[in-house]
Order: sequence, then structure tokens, then C-alpha cells
Amino acid sequence: GKGNYNHFMQKEIFEQPAVIGDTLHAFINPATQTIKLPDMPFSFADATRLTIVACGTSFYAGLVAKHWIERYAGLGVDVDVASEFRYRCPPLPKGGVALFISQSGETLDTLAALRYAKSKGQKIVSIVNVPESTIARESDVVLLTYAGPEIGVASTKAFTTQLTVLACLAVTIGRENGTLAKDEEAAIVNALTEVPKHAAEVLHHDEALKKLALDIADARDVLYLGRGLGYPIAMEGALKLKEISYIHAEGYAAGEMKHGPIALIDQSVPIIVIAPSDELFEKTASNMQEAAARGGRVIFISDGPGLSKLGDMASATVELPKVADFVAPILYTIPVQMLAYHVAVHKGTDVDQPRNLAKSVTVE
Ligand code: F6R
Repeated sequence: GKGNYNHFMQKEIFEQPAVIGDTLHAFINPATQTIKLPDMPFSFADATRLTIVACGTSFYAGLVAKHWIERYAGLGVDVDVASEFRYRCPPLPKGGVALFISQSGETLDTLAALRYAKSKGQKIVSIVNVPESTIARESDVVLLTYAGPEIGVASTKAFTTQLTVLACLAVTIGRENGTLAKDEEAAIVNALTEVPKHAAEVLHHDEALKKLALDIADARDVLYLGRGLGYPIAMEGALKLKEISYIHAEGYAAGEMKHGPIALIDQSVPIIVIAPSDELFEKTASNMQEAAARGGRVIFISDGPGLSKLGDMASATVELPKVADFVAPILYTIPVQMLAYHVAVHKGTDVDQPRNLAKSVTVE
């Protein structure tokens, strides 16, 4: 049941500190502070390239993983949505590994992409939330998310636990490839271990986000901007808003604004900026300035250092804990989920069963 919550989605958002913790417990050895994935019948050190395929929110998890694995593990990664990948018949490298991400483990396009990759000799790894699912059964290696059943159609805790597993995978590949030093691994493991605590802190912004939702509920269009690891989170925030509140929203790479979408901006378009104070902060900040200068109402999601630099330029701010760059995407997901949730509740839409959507897409 929903317990004390009004919707499954709300319950599942609030479960995130616990289920991220459960997922970390499965893969982190607390004694050694190292990550230990299940034994695999191959080594990532032999992999020439990694192909990640998924749909929807799970695809955005793949985009975050691309950034992590290329940056910290030195392995080239291609990411695609399953419905495009499968019909393009892409050539796949000898010695390649293909990774499929699916909460349900039953998404038909993702399964078809898996079968194609297998036919092209790829080693098959999957990240699923349902251990007995078809995608799990057809994989060489299965990495589980310990999110528990996700009932709300809009994926929330499945996404952040996928990110948690992908973070562990990126660290493992980095270790095998020799691109991640022992102390760097220890620092990332330490930051990951603190994510449940920080996620619980982020949930304290619920009331503030409920108020902010009032400003968004009447908008026709909403833009979400991010860079680097923030870009997939911008797209995820936009997807959450459109699917449950039916407001048109787009997630954009902040640096792409001046190549077209900035033409859309006027006072009526709320702009949600996802900008932890990482190495890209100054760049994102200047994109935010450009948007604000054109009358856009900016909701700025950042941390203490970021807000003290730029907070006065925004119409509203959300302050998240200052965390290591690596783990920021997991935490910055939570406020965009809560914002979408409250906009939908305010509009009175069916949060858990949005129109036209099914929890598991087993048709093409
Ligand atoms: C969005 C959402 C969908 C799913 C997509 C893939 O909130 O839930 O975009 O992420 O249908 O589903 P799975 O992960 O089960 O393959």
C-alpha cells in the first residue's frame, strides 16, 4: 500500500535514501571501502567499447553512465534508445560489451536490442529491478537495483538506484583499466556511502518545492538546463514534468541554448537550472545569465558555494548539500522529481497512472 503517502510516486520518492542504501550495501564492502560486483565471465579490461541501450528514464541513466565511464574508466561508450538502435543494425566491435538498463526487464525494444547485440557477439550485461525478468534471463551478467517494486508509472527510485549501480560499475571498470587510483576509488566510495544521508536532506525541501510548483503549474513550457552530468538530469526532470503534469518541458544542454532555444525565452517560461558547483559551474552560470537577461524566471538548483555566487540572479533557489561531483547527479534528480510531483498534484492529474502511459512497455 501507499502507507501515509498520497501517491505511490510520493512514497517511492521518499524511499530513495533507503533503497539507494540497500543497493550500495549489495556492492560495497564496508570493511575495505571497495566496490565488489558479482564475478563476471569476462573482464572489462578486455572490452574495446561499451554500448548502452535503454528507453526513457533508463536511457537517461545510460547517459550519466557514459560520462562516468568515459571520464573515470577510460572506456568509450555509445548510448542509444532501444527503438533507434535495434532498427539501425549498427556494427558492433569485436570484444564489445553491451549493457541494457531496464527497471521492468520486459521493455520490448530493449529486449530486441539485447538479442541483436547478442547475435553480434557482444557480452551482455543488464541492470534490472526485476530479477526474474526476460532481460535478466537472457543476460550473461545481471546487476540488480534494490529499489523494490515501483508502482508509480513515472520512474523515480528505479532511476536513482540504476545510477547507484552504474556508479559502482564505472568504478569497477576504472579499477580494472588502471585509470582510477586507489585513493580516487576510496574518495568515490566515501561519497557514494554518504548519498543516502544527503538524499534524506534533499527530501527536506519538499515543502519549498511544493510552493515553487505553484509558479510552474500555469506555464505552457518549461526549460531544464544542465551541463555534463547535469544534462541528463535536466532531461529527466523535463520527462517527469511532461508525463505527469502534461506541461511541455524540454531538457537542454546549457551550452546549446544560444543555438536556438534561447529564442523561446520570455517571462512566461520558467527555466530550471541544474548546476552543482563543479568544474563546469562558471559555464552553466553564464548560460543562466543569458536566460535571466531575456526575462526568464530562473529556478536555480545548486549548492552553498554555487548559490553564494549566483543565487541573487534567480527568482528562486534550492540549496542542495555540497557533494563530490561524481555523485551529484543522483542527488540533483530528487528535487526535479519532487517539483514534477507537486505540479501534477496541484493540477489534479492522475499522478500514479498518467494518461496514455503503461508501466511496462511490451509493445513496439
Ligand atoms: C518514465 C518512465 C519510462 C521508462 C521506460 C523504460 O518515468 O518510467 O520512460 O523509464 O519505459 O522502462 P524500463 O526501465 O522498465 O525498461
